[in-house]
Order: sequence, then C-alpha cells, then structure tokens
Amino acid sequence: MRILVTGSDGLVATNIIPFLKEHFEIIPALEKEWDITDRDKGRAVLRSVQPHVLLNLAAMTNVDGCEDILDRAHKVNAEGPGVLADLCREEGVKIAHFSTDYVFDGAGQRPYREDDRTNPLSVYGRTKLLGEKEVMKRTDNFLIIRTQWIYGEGGENFITKVTRLGKEKGTVSVVNDQTGSPTYAKDLAQPVAALIRGTAPASITSPMMAPALGLTLQERFFPSCPYLQPASLSVRINSRERPQGPPIRSLIAARSRPIRGFV
Ligand SMILES: NC(=O)c1ccc[n+]([C@@H]2O[C@H](COP(=O)([O-])OP(=O)(O)OC[C@H]3O[C@@H](n4cnc5c(N)ncnc54)[C@H](OP(=O)(O)O)[C@@H]3O)[C@@H](O)[C@H]2O)c1
Repeated sequence: MRILVTGSDGLVATNIIPFLKEHFEIIPALEKEWDITDRDKGRAVLRSVQPHVLLNLAAMTNVDGCEDILDRAHKVNAEGPGVLADLCREEGVKIAHFSTDYVFDGAGQRPYREDDRTNPLSVYGRTKLLGEKEVMKRTDNFLIIRTQWIYGEGGENFITKVTRLGKEKGTVSVVNDQTGSPTYAKDLAQPVAALIRGTAPASITSPMMAPALGLTLQERFFPSCPYLQPASLSVRINSRERPQGPPIRSLIAARSRPIRGFV
C-alpha cells in the first residue's frame, strides 16, 4: 500500500515514518514542494504518486501564531484539509487526517470520547475543528485521528523546554493544574498503521496515562529536578493567557500505558 504523507518533516511524521516504512511504501511531501492549500499542485501530486492513502500531518500548529495570523491558520488548518479531501475523493484515495484535543473546551468531567460535544476556545482549535468538518463534508473515505500533548524526538517538547529553561534561568515556573494525555509520538505509528489497514476499531485516541502536567511530572518523574516550581495558572512558560491555551482538562479516553520515551 502506498501512502503519501504531508507535513513529513514535522514532529509526528518524523517519529512515525520509520515504522510506517516497514509496512507501507511511504512517499513524504514537504511544504516547500507542495503547499496543501494549492489545489492544482495537489491534484498533480496525487496523479503522479497515485497513493492509496493520503496521511495529512500538515498543519499550522503554533497555537499562539494561529491567534496572530488568523487567515493563515484558517487556510492551512480548515481550508487545506478540505482541498485535500476534495482531491482524494476525485482520485479515489482515502484521507487520514490528524486533529487535536483543542477541539474541546476542557470543561468535561470525564475523558473525552469521539462523539462528545466540541467547543474549541482558540483559533487553533476552531480551525482544526473546521478542518475535520471539511474532510467529513467532502468525502466518505476518511479517518480523523485526534491526539494530544505529543512529545518525541526532534523539536522541542515540554520536557526539553523546562530542562533548557532551567539550565538557562535556574528556575522555571510550570502550571500544575492541567490534565491531559501525553502521547509519545512513536506510539502513534502502530495504531495509525492499523487504522489505515482497517484492522483497528474506527477510532484512535492517545494511548497514554494522564498526569497533571507540571507538578505531576515533577513529583513522579523528576523528584530531584532543581528547576521546577509549581505555579499558579497565570504563570506560564508560554506567556499567553487562556483561552488560547490548551483545554485545562482534556483527557482523551483510551487505555492507559506507562509514560515513556524520555525517562
Ligand atoms: N504536536 C502536538 O502536540 C499535537 C497534538 C495533537 C494533534 N496534533 C496534530 O498532529 C498533526 C501533526 O502535528 P505536528 O506536531 O507534527 O506538527 P509540526 O511539527 O508543526 O509539523 C507540521 C508540518 O506541517 C507542515 N506544513 C505547515 N503548513 C503547511 C502547508 N500549508 N502545506 C504543507 N505543509 C505544511 C510543516 O512544514 P514546515 O515545517 O515546512 O512549515 C510541518 O512539516 C497536526 O495535524 C496537529 O494539529 C499535534
């Protein structure tokens, strides 16, 4: 099976492509070669590559940047998936599209399920939700994969960030009241493969346990880390206040696994 992967130099792609390559023929695509919002280019690429599946990992993921550059966020996260879904329908290709827990507001009292009511609070979340809807509107042959709090090799994640800032500044204040499901990027590879093959149930969520970010990470994994100090919500590594931030409580229902990948 041939899979065309957009966003192929991003965090998720670089972590899952090595596994996918063992099972599929993978054709990576880069933004500089093909902007997913370019319909004509997309059609040409699909006709040339003739994939069975288009795995869309291209997105504008800078949450603060989305607040600042609304037009671009809408174009890439909402319109782009619609363009891809149109082209996939025309060419008889399945689209597997990645989305996020930011489609929820974080007010739920239990882990989210696929059919829970969405209520995004940020431009990123709103545009990603629109992207999901565009895909569903334009083709019947799709997968939408919501995941959250991804960390992995390549790029900066929470752990590398606090470690870097701690070394630079001596102390880092971190939120201690956010709850979510950290997802080791490589762990997405196998379920994504199973979904694409059609051998998994029709939904996939982050297969991780759910510590309260910050304090729990400190207590459980870095008890002797000198850098971390629990802080109130208003003190954030990323200086923006909510509602642009992630949902406070956004567990995605899934089987729990021990957290791994960086300890
Ligand atoms: N990271 C997380 O914690 C997280 C959590 C939940 C869901 N997700 C979702 O998972 C997917 C992958 O995220 P990620 O973390 O791998 O993001 P990432 O590291 O920011 O990578 C995004 C990729 O998309 C490319 N891209 C951006 N705009 C594009 C365009 N117009 N046309 C073509 N390519 C474009 C980027 O290329 P350049 O680098 O060249 O700009 C980059 O390769 C996204 O749908 C995201 O919403 C991520």
